[in-house]
Amino acid sequence: MINENTIQEIKERLDIVEVIGDFVSLKKSGSSYKALSPFTSEKTPSFFVSPSKQIFKCFSTGKGGDAIEFLKEVESMSYVESLKYLAEKYGVEIEDSDDYSPQNTEKESLLIILSRANEFFMNNLKTESGQNFAMTYLQHRGVNADMIKKFNIGYSNEDWDSLLKHLIKNGFDETLIEKAGLIIVKDNKKYDRFRNRLMFPIHNITGKVIAFGARQIKEEKKQPKYINSPETLLYIKSDILYGLYQSKNEIRKEDKCYLVEGYTDVISLYQIGINNVVSSSGTSLTTGQIKLLSRYTKNITILFDGDEAGLNASLRGMDLILENDLNVKIVSLPKNEDPDSLSKKMNESEFKNYLNSNETDLINYKVKLLNENYKDDPIKKSDMIFDIVKSISKIPNSIKRSVFIKETSNSLNINENSLITEMNKLLINKNTSRSQDLSTPQKSKSDKIKINNVINHHERECVRMLVNYGTKDFEVMGLDRRSFIEYFLREIEDVDFTNESYIQIIKTFKEEFNRDNIIDINYFFSEEYDSIKNEVIDLSTSKYEISNKWKDKFNIHVSEESDSLKKTTYNNILRLKFRLVKKMINDNLKNLNNESNNINEEEIIKIHNKLKSTEIEIAKQLGNVTSI
Ligand code: UTP
Ligand code: MN
Repeated sequence: MINENTIQEIKERLDIVEVIGDFVSLKKSGSSYKALSPFTSEKTPSFFVSPSKQIFKCFSTGKGGDAIEFLKEVESMSYVESLKYLAEKYGVEIEDSDDYSPQNTEKESLLIILSRANEFFMNNLKTESGQNFAMTYLQHRGVNADMIKKFNIGYSNEDWDSLLKHLIKNGFDETLIEKAGLIIVKDNKKYDRFRNRLMFPIHNITGKVIAFGARQIKEEKKQPKYINSPETLLYIKSDILYGLYQSKNEIRKEDKCYLVEGYTDVISLYQIGINNVVSSSGTSLTTGQIKLLSRYTKNITILFDGDEAGLNASLRGMDLILENDLNVKIVSLPKNEDPDSLSKKMNESEFKNYLNSNETDLINYKVKLLNENYKDDPIKKSDMIFDIVKSISKIPNSIKRSVFIKETSNSLNINENSLITEMNKLLINKNTSRSQDLSTPQKSKSDKIKINNVINHHERECVRMLVNYGTKDFEVMGLDRRSFIEYFLREIEDVDFTNESYIQIIKTFKEEFNRDNIIDINYFFSEEYDSIKNEVIDLSTSKYEISNKWKDKFNIHVSEESDSLKKTTYNNILRLKFRLVKKMINDNLKNLNNESNNINEEEIIKIHNKLKSTEIEIAKQLGNVTSI
């Protein structure tokens, strides 16, 4: 449908960094750009864009390709849809692209109809009734001309079917107009869904109108304040945030997004210069919306209206944000104010100051709420504590969890261990129900192989240090020398290695060390050690290869490995221990499902708590070197 020359022109004009940059927060890294993959939820970036090759590659999902492929993947566009999107972005003309024709896919037809409807509503604003009703109302609300333009605000007039007639006159099909959510069909009558209302078009991320929110202009008790488009092929409420199209660049720039409740809140904040703001349109956030937002930032600040009822309802949805490992902060506005009303009393810097000085992270916010409201009501109080612990348990990162537990324990003056015990019960339930979900034998087997591979890798890294640096001094303090091997053997005393060759190698080093004999790889070149000789050689020669991998992974330079021997060894051993503890935690949890086992639940939880605190301890020590 689009001819080959046009496709060629689109491809020549586009810049993949720009195209992807509209969807993902890219950071320059050498000659390429990197980002968190939009296809998974990950913590370390594995998504790369190469400007010179004009391709992207996502290492966690294996997806890759050109700009068109990216749009197909991330926005579920068809090939033709992506080309049209790019043509528009880069000003390449496609013949007849905006005209309705039966070949167009249904989605495309709906987009065209909605875009025409939006034009119609915007034009209505200029008519006499538009000026008299809608424009007067907008002025009364203090919405300026720039915002009317930026948010494409319109007006649906008082007639019963003016939009329907207009669209039919333009050759659009009635069934499709209905499918676009613009008309209501009842008892063989068809009429416009939106009448005598202010029209707020809802855009998708590429700036196409996919739905409307419509506010009444005159207070009519029987009518709802807002009427919204129904869900359609294009409009899936749970995946859309109002204002994201207008705000996304600023959200990325500020690495932060304000979340408000209503359409007018978004527009009012935008008008005073706070341009990183979106609305969930009066409902609590969904996973889809959170995933969408997290493509642009991990920092969300939620503005709550100053009435408590709304506040408690919304707090319930927040755990979902924690679960997705975003940083949630909360600002509760003064009584009887919403962001819109407050924006009329403050300018940009005053409002920003207000936000900055009232921002509290979710957990502390809940703690504060408890202290203020339920301090003297033991039942409410314990409910609330449980609620707080539950929220904390949703945070994927164990270090963050332990920090919050500590803070909560301090500010509520509750024993930290009992909080930890409660939390672990929740975590255990979560883990066991999850492992039941995945209990197909194949899956659990491959999971096991994966864990063992990881452990084997860390064992190898430790033994590699021994083989390569076993003869070195580890620490020299004045006349006091400590050899590497002395340190190493002591550190791994409580570690049970699993790999047979590694066990043999360590045993040999240890036996010789006990005879005051510090050996190196040459020691293994006798027949006695034939079975592990190759392993030892391998460990010593693959040094550079592995180190290069390290260099990328942990930013440690090859030449530095021996320089910072102490640190590297220390970290290697810690990493191994960390994995082993994780494995022990998993193994321990398996006992819960194992009925033939006599160990009771209490006992398992006790062990779990011990292992967990060891894990956290190790994680803390590893903190600046690795991510958990
Ligand atoms: P609000 O009642 O706070 O409205 O509902 P608002 O956005 O502040 O609007 P103004 O300032 O009174 O004009 C918040 C959001 O809830 C949804 C809308 O998305 C609204 O923006 N809502 C509200 C509805 O969908 N239907 C309704 O009847 C009311
Ligand atoms: Mn309002």
